[in-house]
Amino acid sequence: MTLLPDAAIRIRRMRIDEDLDGIGAVDAASFTNPWTRDMYLWEAAHSDVARVFVAVHDEAGIVAYCAVWVVFDELQVNNLAVLPAWRARGLARRLLAEVFRAARDEGATCATLEVRASNAPAIALYEGLGFVRTAIRAGYYTHPVEDAWIYWRHDLDPVELA
Ligand SMILES: CC(C)(COP(=O)(O)OP(=O)(O)OC[C@H]1O[C@@H](n2cnc3c(N)ncnc32)[C@H](O)[C@@H]1OP(=O)(O)O)[C@@H](O)C(=O)NCCC(=O)NCCS
Repeated sequence: MTLLPDAAIRIRRMRIDEDLDGIGAVDAASFTNPWTRDMYLWEAAHSDVARVFVAVHDEAGIVAYCAVWVVFDELQVNNLAVLPAWRARGLARRLLAEVFRAARDEGATCATLEVRASNAPAIALYEGLGFVRTAIRAGYYTHPVEDAWIYWRHDLDPVELA
């Protein structure tokens, strides 16, 4: 895996006034039923729990994002996507490492997420980060209908990037 040079990509919190188009482009390229602008506006309005992080390249703009909730001691990863041309370079792992660090700083001690049963790249990513499958939610997803696999990670120790 090639790690991205730190200087080219910065990870920061979403700025609602300037990031929605970039996040929408990542979503449209990544999901069959992407989030709408209203969903991101909801996230911004509920900043007591909702956090959206973006990975911004100096020239290409937003190349990845991750939407989470931090609820008491629990981090819930709601959405994560990387533009197709920027995949397989360690970007999702680096973004999650930053998300975990920020959540730990807020008091989160564990993390959970759900993933389509057929999403082999995401499952490999999460299992590689120590997430363990704990349940299956039958027929949870639409477009197409598919089971969700529920994962937990019971500590938020720093993610190994190398
Ligand atoms: C899943 C996704 C976020 C991974 O992003 P990425 O930046 O390419 O991932 P990374 O380069 O950080 O890879 C980290 C690990 O994930 C796994 N992985 C990533 N892409 C993979 C692929 N195509 N096949 C198998 N494993 C893969 C590997 O374990 C990899 O570690 P390695 O490089 O040491 O083998 C990206 O493929 C994506 O945006 N997919 C569409 C949206 C999506 O499915 N999001 C997840 C919703 S739950």
